[in-house]
Amino acid sequence: MNHPSDQSGQPADSSLAVHPALGGGQTDWHALVAQYGSPLLVLDCDIIRRQYRKLAQALPEVSLYYAIKALPNKGVIATLEEEGCGFDIATNGEIAMLEQLFIEPRRTIHTHPIKRDIDIRTALRYGCTTFVVDNIDELDKFVPYRHRAALLVRVSFPNPSARVDLSRKFGCAADEIPALLAAADARGIHVKGLSFHVGSQVADASMHAHAIHRCRDLITATRPDAVAPLSVLDIGGGFPVNYDGSVEDMDAFCGPIRDALNELPASVRVLAEPGRYIAAPAMTCITSVVGRAQRGARMWYYLDDGVYNSFSGQIYDHTRYPLIALDAQGEERPSVLAGPTCDSVDVIAEDIMLGEMAIGDLILAPMMGAYTAATATTFNSLPRARILTLAAPASLAIEDSNVVRLA
Ligand SMILES: Cc1ncc(COP(=O)(O)O)c(C=O)c1O
Repeated sequence: MNHPSDQSGQPADSSLAVHPALGGGQTDWHALVAQYGSPLLVLDCDIIRRQYRKLAQALPEVSLYYAIKALPNKGVIATLEEEGCGFDIATNGEIAMLEQLFIEPRRTIHTHPIKRDIDIRTALRYGCTTFVVDNIDELDKFVPYRHRAALLVRVSFPNPSARVDLSRKFGCAADEIPALLAAADARGIHVKGLSFHVGSQVADASMHAHAIHRCRDLITATRPDAVAPLSVLDIGGGFPVNYDGSVEDMDAFCGPIRDALNELPASVRVLAEPGRYIAAPAMTCITSVVGRAQRGARMWYYLDDGVYNSFSGQIYDHTRYPLIALDAQGEERPSVLAGPTCDSVDVIAEDIMLGEMAIGDLILAPMMGAYTAATATTFNSLPRARILTLAAPASLAIEDSNVVRLA
């Protein structure tokens, strides 16, 4: 087997290659594919643990709630439950997954700013009592449940430098907060704090710090003599990973966030909703060459995974993943890696230089844990990639036929 290298010829950092369950440094990816088929997503729960601990260490005063949407996977949830992490839920499907794992509802917050009545009732029936709103209609939906729910009001902080700018879609302007709080008071609804999400995969923490300062001003200025002052600030997600596989320094990234949090009143409890940072490095995709064709000057390799499946994040999450042509040999030439569907948008990489590959050769893509399997489709009636789970908690019963426990 060739030494893995990414498209640019750099050595790839695949922490998977050293996992004992895969044979240490001698992982035989071909044997794995021969046994379990292709495409595969290999999830390493030890990396979930490592990422959670690194973020918890970098933000010691912050309670972390994993954003399930990034990778809604029972192995991930069971691992994080053991670590003491909470869960950020957004839909009834996510609640169902937590219920199956007997996750205590007091460890959850519901952060979807727009909900149907059935969504609110389902969450309340489960036992989740913290919700997010960002407008008056949403506030009105809580009138019937005002004795059972406490709300966070989401403030928008547009951030064009984030890979995914979530304030485009959700959050009220900071100057709308006094009117919304007054409306909640008039309805007898308890608003316990503020929340924001400065966008996913941000370049640095400056927008987090700005948003914390702005929310501190709102918290301290808006209701100085309130009976129930704002006592929670949810700083959302956005914590970035390095898609080139190099290890990120989360402690340094969080420095400006820690400084800003130090300026909050001591009575304010701080939460965060990390998704990508915890999930992204924990999963590696393995896909096989199933066909090839020389078209003009370029060699096209057709793989059994593509943008309608695990690489869906290339479309929805605007992310490119490191690619390791495990078996490529000989002189490099302009190549294309295409997915298996009949659609021409289903291309993973164009105009990359690759040595020659044969049918059955493997491509590895690390860093594929966040917003990948979560958004995969079955277009063309092609199945989603099978997930092999490493180092899952012993207590986890995996019944899903698409999930195989390796260790
Ligand atoms: C409400 C909410 N919370 C948390 C997250 C997770 O964000 P990230 O993956 O950037 O940590 C998202 C991502 O879309 C979100 O919409």
